[in-house]
Amino acid sequence: METIDITTIDYQHYLTATEIAAIEHEASIMETREAAGIEALKVVQAHRGWISDESLFAISDLLAVPIAQLEGVATFYNLIYRQPVGQNVIHLCDSIACHLTGLDSVLAAIKQYLNIDYGQTTVDGKFTLLSNACLGSCDKAPAMMIGTEHYQHLSPESAVDILQQLAVKGEVNG
Ligand code: FES
Repeated sequence: METIDITTIDYQHYLTATEIAAIEHEASIMETREAAGIEALKVVQAHRGWISDESLFAISDLLAVPIAQLEGVATFYNLIYRQPVGQNVIHLCDSIACHLTGLDSVLAAIKQYLNIDYGQTTVDGKFTLLSNACLGSCDKAPAMMIGTEHYQHLSPESAVDILQQLAVKGEVNG
């Protein structure tokens, strides 16, 4: 496979006109171009599914923000994916209220149904399973988020049911 030297990436060739326009729009409404970093990452992820090293470099080139700084933002923000992910990314809450209300059995059911562990993607590319800090649904725990949807009061059965429905729909969630 050809190796690309990412330092030679020119954003004008790497990013599409649509991506550049959307990022420039975000930059224009921020006080600094630096502040548009997270939105730029979201724009590119929305088009490409995840943020590769090449994408990161291109955004850094466009915004004139150091790559290490963007990398820090991408690492901190857990909805930015630095590796390829499935069509549906499951963010399963791994915090205390969910632990106290049956997370372990929900997690076991999901793992068994999808045959993957945390950090993995199913062979058919439909699901990636990630753990997440509190999703803010502690009074309705256990909870998970897939795309923009929050699912609460999960049981092993309801969690698998949700995944079955999404698998049939083939829904794409970021
Ligand atoms: S602890 Fe799981 S939603 Fe808050």
